[in-house]
Amino acid sequence: MVREIRITPSILNADQEHLEDEIERIAKVSDLLHLDIMDDIFVPNFTYDFERACQLIARSSIPVDAHLMVANADLIGPSYAQAGCGSVTIHAEATENIPATLRSIRGEGARAGLAVKPATEITDYAEVVDLVDMFLIMTVEPGFGGQAFMMEMVKKIERAKSMIGSRPIWLQVDGGITQSTIEIATRAGADTFVAGSAVFRSENPGQIVEQLRKLAQSVAG
Ligand code: DX5
Ligand code: ZN
Repeated sequence: MVREIRITPSILNADQEHLEDEIERIAKVSDLLHLDIMDDIFVPNFTYDFERACQLIARSSIPVDAHLMVANADLIGPSYAQAGCGSVTIHAEATENIPATLRSIRGEGARAGLAVKPATEITDYAEVVDLVDMFLIMTVEPGFGGQAFMMEMVKKIERAKSMIGSRPIWLQVDGGITQSTIEIATRAGADTFVAGSAVFRSENPGQIVEQLRKLAQSVAG
C-alpha cells in the first residue's frame, strides 16, 4: 500500500502582520495548517494567546493542526479541540495525565496527537498507542524555527514506525524539514511533515509545499 503523505506548513516564520494572507498562500496545496502555540514556560518563546489562536482557527480554510508547546496541556489541549482544530498535539513532557487528555481531545472531536522532545523516548509511551491518532517526533528542540534537522532522531522515527505497526496512526516530524531532509525522514517512516522556514522564507510558499510532497512521495513505500 502506498503511504499517504501530508504536508502541514507552520506559520511560525510567516509574515505575522499578514497571517491570514500567508495562510491563503499555502492552503490550496496543504493538508493542514500547523499552528505552533508557545507559552514562554514550556519553551522560551511565545506565539499566540488563545483569542488570537481562535481567530486563526476560524479563518483557516484548511483544518488546523495545533502543536501545543505549553505547560498544563491537560487543560489547554481540550480547549483547542473545542475551538475547532482538526488535530491537537500535546507534549508528553507537559501533560500530567496523558491518557485522560488524549481521550478528552478526541471527545471534543479532534484528532489526538502526542509529541516528544529530542531527549524523550517515544517507546516509553507504547501503552497509550491506541489513544493516539498522530505521534510527533521533534527533530529539533522545540521553541524556534530555522534550526537544523537532528540526524540522530532518524532512529527514533524508525522506532515510532515499528511501534505504530499497522495502526492508522500518522507519524509527524517537525523541525528542519527541507528539500534536503524530507526524504531521510520519509525513509525512516514519517508520513506527515511540518515545514516552517523552508516554506515561508521562500518566494513561492505553495510551490515549496508541492516540491516537498513530491520528494516525500518519491521515496514513500
Ligand atoms: C518549532 C516548531 C516548528 C517550527 C518548525 O518548535 O514546533 O513547527 O515552525 O520550523 P522549521 O521548519 O523552520 O524548522
Ligand atoms: Zn511545531
